[in-house]
Amino acid sequence: FLPHLQKMEETYIMIKPDGVQRGLVGEIISRFEKKGFKMTGLKLFKCPQELAEEHYKDLNSKPFFPKLIGYITSGPVVCMAWEGDGVVASARKLIGATNPLQAEPGTIRGDLAVQTGRNVVHGSDSPENGKREIALWFKEGELCEWTPAQAPWLL
Ligand code: TYD
Repeated sequence: FLPHLQKMEETYIMIKPDGVQRGLVGEIISRFEKKGFKMTGLKLFKCPQELAEEHYKDLNSKPFFPKLIGYITSGPVVCMAWEGDGVVASARKLIGATNPLQAEPGTIRGDLAVQTGRNVVHGSDSPENGKREIALWFKEGELCEWTPAQAPWLL
């Protein structure tokens, strides 16, 4: 067992086009930063149709699928990879329920959104999907391995 070779849990977080249009990028990123997770990837990106369809392929039989794809490809998104102990479940808690009207105050969706179809942010729902989605949205060389110099108490 080589703990230094063991990869930390990672999750794919994406600020959706409404979050970018509404100027919420800094606010959303800061929630994950303040929590103490480590960002390992970040880019502003206009998502092609095929990528949106692949990302949401588990939902492709749902009636809202075409609208969802139209929304995600409607403007730039901010793609992020974050890592840390328990980051997948914790990020989902920080994000809040899918329907922002049901999301608790204090969560990103609870504080900043109203509609399910405009819920400002995505977070992977399992560590497996975290890996899958990071591989899907980032190319090799776009991710950055680094060690925070002054905050070992957070990691
Ligand atoms: P889902 O994976 O169920 O939720 P989450 O994003 O919280 O993991 O659904 C993916 C996205 O699909 C969701 O963020 C918004 C959209 N969506 C709708 O537009 N209508 C719906 O009824 C549902 C369930 C989701």
